[in-house]
Amino acid sequence: MNRTFSIIKPDATQRNITGSINKIIEDNNLTIVAQKRIKLSREKAEGFYAIHKEKPFFNDLIDYMTSGPVIIQVLEGDNAVEKYRKIMGSTNPENAEEGTIRKKHALNIQENSVHGSDSEENAKIEISFFFNENEIISN
Ligand code: CMP
Repeated sequence: MNRTFSIIKPDATQRNITGSINKIIEDNNLTIVAQKRIKLSREKAEGFYAIHKEKPFFNDLIDYMTSGPVIIQVLEGDNAVEKYRKIMGSTNPENAEEGTIRKKHALNIQENSVHGSDSEENAKIEISFFFNENEIISN
């Protein structure tokens, strides 16, 4: 049993499809053990995506991630990091497999509806960037 960090992004909150995304998560045996709807500050978004600071899409990414509410989540289950990456599908929805969140909902490579941690180590870092341990309540 382990955990991953998830963000349901502004394109999804904007279109009222967070329930549909949560259903896909739960149908795949991941449990939402923490969840908050927040508005990211520029500072927080830049800190979270610091690894992409030199990328050409960085400024657009920060504009987008601060453009509306996001839902931040901790997901728990067997192989949570790997499993959620599979359920999300490729970063670019054009390459995402049938049945994935991004294939179903993402608009383009930037407005791709969800973020998930890419490793166990980053999951721990990302979770603690947004949540205190006492806010995470397992079944
Ligand atoms: P995410 O998995 O949250 O990680 C970085 C985000 O940058 C990515 O999802 C997209 O929302 C956004 N992005 C925009 N352009 C690109 C790109 N060319 N390659 C990767 N990510 C991109």
